[in-house]
Amino acid sequence: MTNTDYKNPQLLADSTQTASTGSFNWRSPSNLAIVKYWGKHGVQLPRNPSISFTLENAFTQTLLEYAPKTDHNENIELEFLFHKEENEPFRQKLLKFLESITDIFPFLRQFKLKIRSGNSFPHSAGIASSASAMSAVSLCLCSMEDELFGTLQDDTEFDRKASYVARLGSGSASRSIYGGMAVWGKIGAVAGSSDLYAVPYADRMHDAFKSFHDDILIVSKSEKSVSSTAGHALMEDNIYAAPRFQQAGQRMQRLLGAIQAGDVETFGEIAENEALTLHAMMMASNPSYMLMESNTIEMIKRIRAYRAETKEPVYFSLDAGPNIHLLYPEEIIHNVSPFIDSELLPLCQEGMIVRDWVGEGPEQV
Ligand code: PMV
Repeated sequence: MTNTDYKNPQLLADSTQTASTGSFNWRSPSNLAIVKYWGKHGVQLPRNPSISFTLENAFTQTLLEYAPKTDHNENIELEFLFHKEENEPFRQKLLKFLESITDIFPFLRQFKLKIRSGNSFPHSAGIASSASAMSAVSLCLCSMEDELFGTLQDDTEFDRKASYVARLGSGSASRSIYGGMAVWGKIGAVAGSSDLYAVPYADRMHDAFKSFHDDILIVSKSEKSVSSTAGHALMEDNIYAAPRFQQAGQRMQRLLGAIQAGDVETFGEIAENEALTLHAMMMASNPSYMLMESNTIEMIKRIRAYRAETKEPVYFSLDAGPNIHLLYPEEIIHNVSPFIDSELLPLCQEGMIVRDWVGEGPEQV
C-alpha cells in the first residue's frame, strides 16, 4: 500500500462533477469471529489478530445516492432511511462516522447524500449489525470515489480501502469485505496481514470448512446492556488483558494450521474456548457484567451432550451477546436439523433462528 492512512486532500470534485448525480447499492454480510477481537487501542487498532467466517444470509443492503447541493456549505448533508423509515439515532451515528472520514473522502462535503439501509435479519433480533452495516457503507463510499475519480480500479486496492474504512466504523466490519474467511490484525503466519485492514483467507481454507453452517439461535432479542465499545474499553483495566492477547495470538497460530489442514476438531475446540474466553473477560471486567442468559448456558450443555453422544462435529460460538452460533459442516445437516428443532429451538425467544452458512462476501446489486 502506498498511502498508509488514505488521507487524500485531492479527492475533491470539480464543478461539472458537483452538478452530477449517481447511486450505488451494496449488499454486505455479517461475520462471526472464531478467534475474537476484544480490546483495542489508538484509532480502532486491535490488541490481537482475529479471524472470522463471512456469513451469507445475515446482511445489510445499503443504497447511497448523491446529488448536487442546493446551497454552498461545508456541512455533510445526510438524509437517512432505515427500513424505509427515518431513524434519527442511526442517522446521527452515521453522520459522525462520515465526519470522521472526510480526510479520506473530502468530496463527501460537496454533495447532498441520501443513504437507505436495511438488514436481511429481523430488526432487533439481537444480532450485531455493525459489521454488515459499516462494511456496506464503506463499499458504497469506495464506489463513489471510484466513479468520481477513477482511483480504485484495481479490485485488490478497492477491497483494501473498503476494509480500512469499514474498520474505522467498527473493527469487526473490516473482515466482512471478504468472502469465506478473513484475517484482521498483523500476524507473521499471514503475509500482508495488517492492523489497518483485513485480508482474505478463503484461498487457504480446507474444503472441510467451505460449506460450514452457522445457525444463529436467538436466545434474546433485547439490546445488549453493555455495548461493544464499552466492552473494548473495559479491557484496558482488565488484569487478564495481557495474557488474553497473548493467548489469542497463540490460538490464531493453531487455528490457521487447522483451517488449512481441515482439522475440524481443533477448529471446534478453539471456537468454543474463544467464545467462553470472550464472555469470561466480560465477567472479569470492572465493573463486571454478563451477557449470557440461562438459555445460552442450557444450549451449550445440550450441544456438548449431543456431540459427546453422536461424535458429530457440532460446535458453538458466541458474539458479544446471548445468542448461540451453531457451527457444523453441511454433510451432517440431516442429523443436526432434528436436534436443533427438538432441543434448541424451544430455548429460543419466539423460536427464532437465522439459518446461515459461510458466504461469498459482499455484492454490488
Ligand atoms: O467490531 P466491534 O467493535 O463491534 O467488536 C466486535 C467484537 C466481537 O464481535 C465480540 C468479536 C469480533 O472479533 O467480531
